Amino acid sequence: MEKIFSVVLAAGEGKRMKSSKSKLLHKICGRTIVEWVLDAVAGAGIDESIIVVGHKSEQVKECLGNKQYAIQEKQLGTGHAVMQSEEFLKGKKGIVVVLCGDTPLITSETLKNAIEAHKADNNNVTIITSMVDNPFGYGRVLRNSQGTVEKIVEQADATDKEKSCKEINSGMYCFNLEDLFRALNSINNNNKQGEYYLTDTIEVLINEGKRVGAFKMSDSTEILGINDRIQLAQATEVIRNRIIKEHMLNGVSFIMPNTNCLDYNVRIGKDTVVYSGTIIEGETSIGENCIIGPNTRVVSSIVDDDVEINNSVVLKSSISSGTKVGPFAYLRPNSKIGKKVKVGDFVEVKNSSIGDNTKISHLTYVGDAEVGKNVNLGCGVVTVNYDGKNKSKTIIGDNAFIGCNVNLIAPVEVKNNAYVAAGSTITDQVPEDGLAIARSRQLIKENWVKKRVFDKE
Ligand code: UD1
Ligand code: CA
Repeated sequence: MEKIFSVVLAAGEGKRMKSSKSKLLHKICGRTIVEWVLDAVAGAGIDESIIVVGHKSEQVKECLGNKQYAIQEKQLGTGHAVMQSEEFLKGKKGIVVVLCGDTPLITSETLKNAIEAHKADNNNVTIITSMVDNPFGYGRVLRNSQGTVEKIVEQADATDKEKSCKEINSGMYCFNLEDLFRALNSINNNNKQGEYYLTDTIEVLINEGKRVGAFKMSDSTEILGINDRIQLAQATEVIRNRIIKEHMLNGVSFIMPNTNCLDYNVRIGKDTVVYSGTIIEGETSIGENCIIGPNTRVVSSIVDDDVEINNSVVLKSSISSGTKVGPFAYLRPNSKIGKKVKVGDFVEVKNSSIGDNTKISHLTYVGDAEVGKNVNLGCGVVTVNYDGKNKSKTIIGDNAFIGCNVNLIAPVEVKNNAYVAAGSTITDQVPEDGLAIARSRQLIKENWVKKRVFDKE
């Protein structure tokens, strides 16, 4: 079997993004632009990859981690960029697939088909091309009267007649390794942009009498290159749709899919329904038969089966089966919510565990707490976890009942089965089966209103 290499060009500056970070590190559905390209490469059966970095190379390397990097110190053009990978490939044999780091919509399927066509046609180079209505900005693939490829001409260098050609160069190719590096030695930068064009290798190989072929991709959206934030949004739209379609095929319903955004690594069980305006990000897994949304954001969380989350935000937390969250609840990081719990409206939970069957129905703050099973937290309960300097813990035992508007001044503990009267401010431990009342007694002043002397006007 012939070895297949890839060279991903990722050294360009990407000025039009107007960003302080590398263009390639902008994210689409949880993954950077260049990682989408590398993902397509990984799925295409490629044996070894080299990434050519240059502009903001430290950022790119830090993001992508341990990979083979060739450095292009000065961005002198795509041909020059590929030359930098020679140190890794010299003396080797096989096929080199060249791709751009800024075309995240390319799929493994297309790359595989192109490699197959390259082999089947016995080409020295195969250009991946596409027919488009508006070829502006792309290199045009020019063919002779017999239909064989003659050369690629860049937008800047094309004559008016050449500009009318609608077959464009995707910027992706399969080269025979030896032909690629030999041809690169013959190109120059005598063109409008003063760059070493990779595309000039095509003419070189034709002049050598080599076989140059073109593989027309069926779906021209895959060539979209990202140069600015408008194209970033267009690419996001395509990937967002691909991800949601995949979930639909796996048995998940989306009521208004155009309003949802899901990261690439989100998992959702069958018969779950996702309502409008819902965003699911990070390593999130959602069980079967859940109702998520409307207007809900779930980030890096684990949600079991039969859970409902309505108009709420859930960050880095877990929710067990049968629990209902919201509307308007906020689960902050490290909240562990048990089974059949109710976390109702205007409830905030942070860094706390909540036992099974516990009810926190309204207007409550639970922070740094351990709450047992079958607990009832009345409306307006507050765990007072912060004294201005330190955060402290509140522990509430199983079956406890905390009345409305209770302040639990942490560190403090309410033992199993204990009751706390409404309006209490609790500073000391409440014993098992006990009742704590910590508020002043009611005072009645008879006929106070009648006796009251109002100011004369
Ligand atoms: C290139 C092709 C063009 C094709 C288009 C498809 C050439 C000369 N032209 O044009 O035919 O239609 O892609 O999108 O190849 N890069 C480097 N180092 C450099 C220059 C570029 O690494 O010195 C990288 C960029 O980061 C980018 C890729 O190569 O990922 C393409 O470069 P770009 O300048 O965008 O090429 P285009 O002008 O779009
Ligand atoms: Ca480009």
